[in-house]
Amino acid sequence: MSEPLFDRAADLLRTSKHPIAFTGAGISAESGISTFRASEEGLWSKWSPEELATPWGFKNDRELVWGWYVWRLAKGMSALPNAGHDALAMLEQRWPNFAVITQNVDELHERAGSKRIAHLHGLASAFRCFSCAAPATFDVPLDAADNPQLRMPPPACLHCGDSIRPGVVWFGEGLPQDQWNQADDWAMQCDLMLVIGTSGIVQPAASLVDVARRNGAKIILIDPSVTSHATLADVHLREAAGVALPKLLQRL
Ligand code: OAD
Repeated sequence: MSEPLFDRAADLLRTSKHPIAFTGAGISAESGISTFRASEEGLWSKWSPEELATPWGFKNDRELVWGWYVWRLAKGMSALPNAGHDALAMLEQRWPNFAVITQNVDELHERAGSKRIAHLHGLASAFRCFSCAAPATFDVPLDAADNPQLRMPPPACLHCGDSIRPGVVWFGEGLPQDQWNQADDWAMQCDLMLVIGTSGIVQPAASLVDVARRNGAKIILIDPSVTSHATLADVHLREAAGVALPKLLQRL
């Protein structure tokens, strides 16, 4: 990987007054969490998003969908934040207005110490009723981390008796309005956006990079692949986040 590119990225970051990060599944890959669209290991190459990530899929087979999210939750809880998450938490110490807009539902950013986070796609552990939306609690069995084929009936809502669902945004559903408003504000206000580990395929999340660019922000892309955001990037560091981010921080 070309060192001058890291120097250029570090120059941009060093002179920035309001940097933020926009993250996707790739930042958690080095913590052992699968991304969605990798060719063989990606979640959506092994499972159907229609069956597992839509309200229709949940109505169709509640045990399948609940079991799959319990497996993913247990995997996330068993995983540790990696050097990429840690680096973003450190940037918040240097720039108190630093913020992370994430599409991830695994909570590894907060476990690394980041405080200013917008969760565009919800949080898997924010359980609520599928019908009446009442918040709910559930103790995730950690041994479920070894069982991707887990089937489990979802618990019943204490208020209306319908099923509890994971707190993620499914296809066909709106984003949480407060999280979206916060993310949109940050994207408009920032003068530099680190875009890390996202294919840029899922809207409206991906459009935040255009928002930042249109408002004059510099874009540093950190992703081993050439993604749909590559044409917007001032610098593209084609390395894993857990390698690239510490290298970048060393140069500040
Ligand atoms: P994708 O799986 O679409 O993209 C992951 C990106 O991470 C790819 O561009 C990879 O090249 C990159 N990548 C892989 N390993 C990496 C590493 N170690 N460091 C940096 N980058 C790496 O995941 P997302 O873009 O996050 O939505 O997917 C967006 C949304 O699609 C998800 O939030 C989810 C999914 O359907 C919902 O569940 C609503």
